[in-house]
Order: sequence, then structure tokens, then C-alpha cells
Amino acid sequence: MTTLITGARGNVGGGVLRRLHAAGHALRASSREPGRLDVPEGIETVLLDLAEPDTFESALRGITQVFLYAEPEGVDEFVGAAEAAGVKHIVLLSSSAALSPTALEDPLGRHHILVERALLASSISTTLLRPDAFAGNAFGWLDAIRSGGPVEQAYPDANVAPVHEDDIADVAAAALTEDWLVGHAITLTGPRSISLREQITIVAGRLGRDIAIHELTRAEAEEKMARYMPAEFVASLLDFWAGAVAGPAPISDAEWVTCKPARTFEQWVEEHIH
Ligand SMILES: NC(=O)c1ccc[n+]([C@@H]2O[C@H](COP(=O)([O-])OP(=O)(O)OC[C@H]3O[C@@H](n4cnc5c(N)ncnc54)[C@H](OP(=O)(O)O)[C@@H]3O)[C@@H](O)[C@H]2O)c1
Repeated sequence: MTTLITGARGNVGGGVLRRLHAAGHALRASSREPGRLDVPEGIETVLLDLAEPDTFESALRGITQVFLYAEPEGVDEFVGAAEAAGVKHIVLLSSSAALSPTALEDPLGRHHILVERALLASSISTTLLRPDAFAGNAFGWLDAIRSGGPVEQAYPDANVAPVHEDDIADVAAAALTEDWLVGHAITLTGPRSISLREQITIVAGRLGRDIAIHELTRAEAEEKMARYMPAEFVASLLDFWAGAVAGPAPISDAEWVTCKPARTFEQWVEEHIH
């Protein structure tokens, strides 16, 4: 039984790969640039671009389960190729954006829900992971913090429940190795609601110095964020933050899966402060 790990260079995919490798599972790691994969000896590597159906057959040959990143372009072809290859189970890295009742009208929600629906309509059993904002999004503040400049942030009082990527990888690894999570849709958050401003304050406290925050207007943020994110996702994220100022973020950590409390943002900062 061989598991295909898509996004094997990604934060979550890399974590899933390390966990299954440590547990002795047969793995194949994929990337759009497989030559850049740095995986332990014995793990096969393969080219897979989820938006390029030509790459599906060879990546899926002999595969029984998949850890999948969400890419709606080509998902129907991916599902067809997975069924033809005999894939039995797929664990999808989706998003809490798919939970919104208006997810189909929201670009971020739509990106994930279209993949969820394609999988659920297939003959392959599915586990959906729907994480809230990643703790690692704090890396977006890295350059400003390093240069000593203010962190530029729109809606700094938006409340999120940042989830540690290792918690997502733990749940994904469980879903790929334990039958009881088949068919579940699992919402993952951190253990508490915390504003973006408080997150920056926690980083500052750990560094032992102040970090100034420059609150961007929506127009300024649109211009700045569009340099590294598709414009439709920028609008979607800004809408989400705007709505998240009003009250605390819902908490739905995955302690029921992992049997341990969700990792805190403070722990993430401690691990990444270097
Ligand atoms: N950040 C958040 O707050 C948040 C919240 C909820 C859900 N999510 C979900 O989590 C994902 C990010 O996870 P992450 O932090 O682990 O990612 P990451 O470290 O940014 O890495 C992205 C991975 O996606 C792979 N990828 C991108 N496009 C691909 C394609 N067309 N075909 C195959 N692989 C492709 C990349 O593979 P190669 O470059 O090697 O091809 C890479 O390994 C988001 O895309 C979103 O779906 C994120």
C-alpha cells in the first residue's frame, strides 16, 4: 500500500510525509518540481501538477491513498485518474473557508469547496481537513520584523484561532493510518481566539523588543497583498478579516482526534523564533 503525498515540499505535506515515513509506510512524494524535493532515502519522487492532467496517470500508478492539496482546476480529471488507478482513500487539505454558507460565492471558499465536492461525488472514501488560519501565516511579518520596521497589517484587530501546522499534520497522518476517520470532515483551529495584533505582541514579547504596527487601509492592503497572492484571494481574505474584528473566532480544535490539546501560538513562536 503506497501513499502519494502531494505538496511534499509544503509545510503541512512535509509534516505528513515525515510522520508516515517514521511509521514505516511506503510513500511517493510529488511536486511540480520533483528535482527540488528533499526527502529521506527510499521515498520515490514524482512530477505532479494538480492543474495539469497529463501528469496524473504516472503519479497515481500503484497508489492506494493520497494526501491532497486543493486545486480545483483539473480536479474532475484527478478524481477520474485516481479512481482508474485504484485509489481507495483521499485526505484533503481543505480550509475552514469551505464552511461558510456562502462559500461558493467567495473565491477562497470556492477554491476548496469545489475540490471537496468532486471528492465526495467520487467512489473514493474521503477525509476532509478544514483548518482555520495557519500559525505560520506569521511569516508574512518576517521581513518587517527583521528590518525593524513597522508591521503593515490591515484589520489588525481581526480575531483568528491560529492552528499550528503540526496539529494539521498529526490529524492528516491519523486520517491516513486509522480507519475511524474515514468520511469525517474535521475543522481544525488553535486552542484560543487571538487577534492579529496580539499575535504580533507575542512575537515582540519573545524577541524582547517592541514591534510597531502600521494599520493599512483596505486599498493599501489590496495593493500590497496582490504582489504575492491572486487578487480574488486578497479580496476574500480582507473580507474575512473585516468580519473577524467583531468577535472571537470559533474554536474547534482537534483534541478529539489527537487526544492532546492543540498547540498554542506561543509554542509556534517559540519553535520558529530563530
Ligand atoms: N495559510 C492558511 O491560513 C490556510 C488556511 C486554511 C487552509 N489552507 C490551505 O493550506 C494550503 C497551504 O498549505 P502549506 O502551508 O502546507 O503550503 P505551502 O508550504 O505554501 O506549500 C504549498 C504546496 O502546494 C503545492 N502546490 C501548489 N500548487 C500545486 C499544484 N498545482 N499542483 C501540485 N502541487 C501544488 C506546492 O508544491 P510544489 O511547489 O512543490 O509543486 C507546495 O508543496 C493552502 O493552499 C490552502 O489550501 C491554508
